[in-house]
Amino acid sequence: MKPRMTLSDHRVLVTGGTAGIGLALARAFLARGNRVVVCSRSAERIAAARQTAPDLVTLQADVGRSADLERLVRDVTHRLGGLSILVNNAAVQFPLRLPETPAAEVVRLADQEVGANLTGLIQLTALALPALRAAPEAAIVNVSSVLALAPKASAPVYCATKAAVRSFTQALRFQLENADSQIRVFELMPPLVDTDMTRGRWRGELTPEQVAAFTLDGMAAGRLELRPGLARPFYWLHRLVPGALARRMRRA
Ligand SMILES: NC(=O)c1ccc[n+]([C@@H]2O[C@H](COP(=O)([O-])OP(=O)(O)OC[C@H]3O[C@@H](n4cnc5c(N)ncnc54)[C@H](OP(=O)(O)O)[C@@H]3O)[C@@H](O)[C@H]2O)c1
Repeated sequence: MKPRMTLSDHRVLVTGGTAGIGLALARAFLARGNRVVVCSRSAERIAAARQTAPDLVTLQADVGRSADLERLVRDVTHRLGGLSILVNNAAVQFPLRLPETPAAEVVRLADQEVGANLTGLIQLTALALPALRAAPEAAIVNVSSVLALAPKASAPVYCATKAAVRSFTQALRFQLENADSQIRVFELMPPLVDTDMTRGRWRGELTPEQVAAFTLDGMAAGRLELRPGLARPFYWLHRLVPGALARRMRRA
């Protein structure tokens, strides 16, 4: 457990912060007196996000495109005068059945999914590190998923990217702790949350706002692994009876 973190007066970037969990996080950071930039791809979502939170600074960027990332970091640090919290939240999830899908389609979808969910997260982290290092107190929040622990059959690439995000996050945390850095590395591991990504699968679990409140409270308390709602029992089930969980995910 690290010491508590002050969660006001930060300069925050939330990728994919125009909808769902990202938008709820962005609004929660704003409400605590931070300056917040969000980015995403679609102009419609950006306009809608700005309507719900006029204080948000919005930028158009695709985190799966390396060419967008350098510009993103440059624009964010210019607009905010620095960067002290990076929230790597943007991701896509494609249902994919390899036995029935033409290889060219698998290549196309995997490229997009791995690019947005994993490669972009790693590249953006690297590009943002100099700005984060310059802040007196800083944080990286990587959004994984309970599916990082146990993959479901219907989204193999998504689950693989989330397992990789979890692994990358842990190793990065070790590196920064070993370097005695002031940057804390958090992992947010949501369970099923009611967003566009899970539309139609909603089974009365968490809202994005509940996830955001849990995340900011956990960060303030210095909890590096953030498991809201059912993510906590899911995590322990995975630790204690992995076989039972795997049998369930085989049909999910
Ligand atoms: N919802 C859940 O049940 C659940 C569970 C576990 C983990 N998670 C994780 O939580 C995070 C947020 O998920 P969510 O459910 O809030 O998703 P969502 O409602 O689909 O929102 C995703 C956001 O990311 C943006 N985005 C997608 N691809 C992008 C890209 N390549 N570059 C920039 N922005 C991009 C989207 O805007 P544009 O389309 O305009 O780009 C949107 O703002 C993700 O990392 C997801 O894997 C979600």
